[in-house]
Parts: sequence; C-alpha cells; structure tokens
Amino acid sequence: KLADLKGLKSGRLRLAVITTAKYFAPEILGSFCEKFPGIEVSLKITNRESIIERMVANEDDLYIFGEPKTAGMEVEATYLAPNPLVIVARNDHPLTQEKRIPLEHLAGENFLLRETGSGIRDSLVRRFQEKGLRPRVRMELGSNEAIKHAIVAGLGLSALSLHSLNLDWGGGRLAMLDVEGFPVDRAWYLVHPKGRELSTLARTFLAFAIEQEPEIRATLNKTYQVLRADKQAIL
Ligand code: PGA
Repeated sequence: KLADLKGLKSGRLRLAVITTAKYFAPEILGSFCEKFPGIEVSLKITNRESIIERMVANEDDLYIFGEPKTAGMEVEATYLAPNPLVIVARNDHPLTQEKRIPLEHLAGENFLLRETGSGIRDSLVRRFQEKGLRPRVRMELGSNEAIKHAIVAGLGLSALSLHSLNLDWGGGRLAMLDVEGFPVDRAWYLVHPKGRELSTLARTFLAFAIEQEPEIRATLNKTYQVLRADKQAIL
C-alpha cells in the first residue's frame, strides 16, 4: 500500500528501552536505518520504572523491557530475546572457586545495588526476599557501567544482565559466580499499550527486531562461556 511505503520512507520511530538493551539497540537500529534511510529514530535508555511511566504517558512507539504482565497496564508484548541475570564478582574473589553457592552464603557479602526503579535491583532483592533475606547494601549506583567499575575496584558483588558483560568489557577482571537460582531466567519483550495501533514503521521494526533473536542469543552464549570456568553453554 502507498501509505505503508510512505511511512517507511520518511516516518519517525520512537523507542524507549531498559538500560541493558542499550548493548544491542544501537546495532539493530543501525541495520534498520540502512534499510530505511529516510526515517528518523529516537532511542531513550532508562530504567524499568521510567520506561513504564513513559508508556503510561504515551511518549514512544515501542518499549523494550521485561515482565510486561506486571507493568500495571494492559499491554501487547512480543518476546524478543533472553536477558539472564547473573551474580558478578571480581575475578580474585574467593567465591569464584565455589560451586552451587547457596544464596544464604551471599548474605554476608557487600552488594552494589542499582537505583530504586531498576528492574535488576527488584529482581535481585526479590531473590533474597524469597529466602527471608536481604542483600547487605554497600553502595547504590545509577548505572550498570558504574557497577562494573565498582566491582573491579573491590567494593563488592552485584547482579548484572549478561548483556552488560559482553566480551569487550573489563579486561577479564569480572567473574560470574555459580549461585543457586542463577542465572535468573529473564527476557526482553517488545511492548506497547493494548489497543494502541502501531505505525507501519513501528510494526516493521518489531518484525525486524524479533528476527535478530538467534544472533542476540549467540552473543550471550559466547559471553556466558567466557565467564564460566567450565566453558559450558546453557542458553
Ligand atoms: P533496569 O532494567 O535498567 O530497570 O534495571 C534492566 C534489565 O531488567 O535488564
């Protein structure tokens, strides 16, 4: 249809994604813009709470975050890719030598937590709460990057998305701990409010994005194998 083609020639696509999707969103937008060079794209990167606020205020075309059922409004959600959560320590931490560490053993460790409103923070705290525990918070930091630096600086452990630990980062100073219940099996979804019709461009992007799943999974698997002592792949 003519209108459809027009939308792909010069339309505008507004995306808002949780912090961990920034490791993949620019690449995929790059290939998408190559296909549709006339379009204009904006990408907002922020935490789960702010993403949901933006969705309530109808500020973007599409959102990427996890656990869409608990977003507090009716949504349409399409599975995009895995987003596993792992416990990370500096590679000389004594716990890197242990297997199947019960979460209880981490209760005495110093933890670096993301800010309130972060989905990762919620997910980690919930894991502890399920055991009647809470993490001992050494420091709150507003970004995954700052947390990685703080781990390398020896300030404590944290929970991070495997996406934030890709091969380019950390000069090998970060290690994944083998903790019971981890990696937490999470996922990214492409989300928009139910009943709100997507633009042609947004629909085309959604279809394009979900096709990238095998590649995203392969990259994650590589990261996982590098971080695991026994090089086993699970995803
Ligand atoms: P957050 O979400 O930025 O809200 O912590 C990231 C994630 O859930 O992977």
